[in-house]
Amino acid sequence: MKLLDVQGLTIYFGGLAALRDVSFHVDEGEIVSLIGPNGAGKTTVFNLMTGFLRPTRGRVFYRGRDLGGSPGHEASRRGIARTFQKTEVFPEVTVLTGVLIGLHKAARAPVWDVLLGTRRKRAHEERVADRAREIIGFVGLAGKEGEVARNLAYGDLRLLEIAVALAADPELLLLDEPTAGMNPEETRRVTYLIGQIRAKGVTVLLVEHDMNVVMGISDRVVVLDHGEKIAEGVPDEIRQNADVIRAYLGAGFAGGTRGGTAVAGARGPASSGGERLRPAGEPVETPQKPSAAGRGPGGSARPC
Ligand SMILES: Nc1ncnc2c1ncn2[C@@H]1O[C@H](COP(=O)(O)OP(=O)(O)OP(=O)(O)O)[C@@H](O)[C@H]1O
Ligand SMILES: [Mg+2]
Repeated sequence: MKLLDVQGLTIYFGGLAALRDVSFHVDEGEIVSLIGPNGAGKTTVFNLMTGFLRPTRGRVFYRGRDLGGSPGHEASRRGIARTFQKTEVFPEVTVLTGVLIGLHKAARAPVWDVLLGTRRKRAHEERVADRAREIIGFVGLAGKEGEVARNLAYGDLRLLEIAVALAADPELLLLDEPTAGMNPEETRRVTYLIGQIRAKGVTVLLVEHDMNVVMGISDRVVVLDHGEKIAEGVPDEIRQNADVIRAYLGAGFAGGTRGGTAVAGARGPASSGGERLRPAGEPVETPQKPSAAGRGPGGSARPC
């Protein structure tokens, strides 16, 4: 079943089309990757879906309902959460507080309980704190609850961002370059985590330049170039696609390696890890599709 259906998305910035007539969909329970060179329009798709931008033309349907360029809180109310390409976590908050803030945004205690400081409010707060610790453990940050974000290792900071997004209990998680700037071990942890998130019934739309991650984890891949969709298919189709090789992957990628590395040839200003290399043959965990125990329509499959 289509969870997300993007139809003819077009947006102009000062007369230049950042996206032109882009259509694709994401089925419930899938991991779909959105790839392409720097400036192709990937983050712009996320910004349009989450109300940061309004499309010039085109529509985004979520569970069959038009998101209609509605504001960000509406996307989040409908079950869409995202992480950002550049870190957005407040540097002074602890891991626990960061996740608690995310949880409190998602589920507030009844106002009278808050005002009166009732026992019910205290019980609610204990439940929320337990839930925060559960999410922190799930992303692999157990034991670091009291650490301040600015003191975290880079990889842990990005895990915290994912934890904060999961606190919203999303149905659809948008991840914008979650492994950018990470070392191989950190990349492996995040790749495994994405599989675990999907195994819990959360659908994932992933923007990523690391082709070992993309090809290892995705059910389908959508490729943008200069704001246009140039290909869509399963990873094996994409890695053989002549247009994709020309625009992004580079010659020699079809076999999975180039000079001993799997490379996405990001073009243009090297902004965001687009030219990172990953040693060939480095294992990438391949997650399983969710079981029938995953989220049903309208239901809640908590990610942990
Ligand atoms: N708010 C904006 N105002 C003007 N131009 C913008 C805006 N947002 C994006 N653009 C332009 O739209 C194009 C697509 O940008 P976008 O950030 O979506 O690319 P991307 O595919 O995410 O690239 P990268 O891999 O480098 O993150 C770029 O040319 C960018 O400069
Ligand atoms: Mg981007």
